[in-house]
Amino acid sequence: MELYVDSANLADIKHAASLGFISGVTTNPSLLAKEDPSLDIKDLLLDIHKSVGGHTSVEVISTDTDGMLREADEILKWFPEATIKIPFIPAGLTAVSELSRQGIPTNVTLLFTALQALIAANAGATYVSLFLGRLDDMGTDAMQAIEDTVEIWDMHDLEALIIAASIRHPIHLLGVARAGAHIATVPYKVLMQSMQHPLTDAGLASFLKDHEKMMKAKS
Ligand code: E4P
Repeated sequence: MELYVDSANLADIKHAASLGFISGVTTNPSLLAKEDPSLDIKDLLLDIHKSVGGHTSVEVISTDTDGMLREADEILKWFPEATIKIPFIPAGLTAVSELSRQGIPTNVTLLFTALQALIAANAGATYVSLFLGRLDDMGTDAMQAIEDTVEIWDMHDLEALIIAASIRHPIHLLGVARAGAHIATVPYKVLMQSMQHPLTDAGLASFLKDHEKMMKAKS
């Protein structure tokens, strides 16, 4: 399962990318809105893309097909490798189908059920983003949606890649890896939490202490 960072914060993205295990980044309008309003969105997205050097999903904000296609054109002028992130609404499906016909990669977002994901895949989505945290927030078993989707994908050998999104904590990440999602897009904080283990820190401290002791004994 590949790991993407779900963020629009350049410092966090650069640090995550420097660790060598991130292969993409996903942004959305809410993540961009958290950043310094004086930043130029195009420049920020270009910097984000250069920092990661892999998949970069950029979301459209239009709610009509023509507007989405115009935005996609604009984003692709900024960097032609962009994946166009499109909300799961009827106008979005039409845009996905058109972009797919042109060979442009799309990431259909705001999916909460396996059936929505199946429909998006049939419209030509390259990636389908299923949200976990927002389902958990309303007391629905989010992991079931991922498990159902993976089961359907395996059964029908579907090509679109399943992105587990709206990940809120390391247990979500473990769950989607076990369920068989192809990619998880993970907030920076959760990536850092997932790396932590007190035994790793204690183990390193004791290795270094023993090495120091040995060096002292030799001198
Ligand atoms: C996915 O692509 C979205 O950017 C993101 O995962 C949404 O997460 P949230 O529900 O924590 O806002």
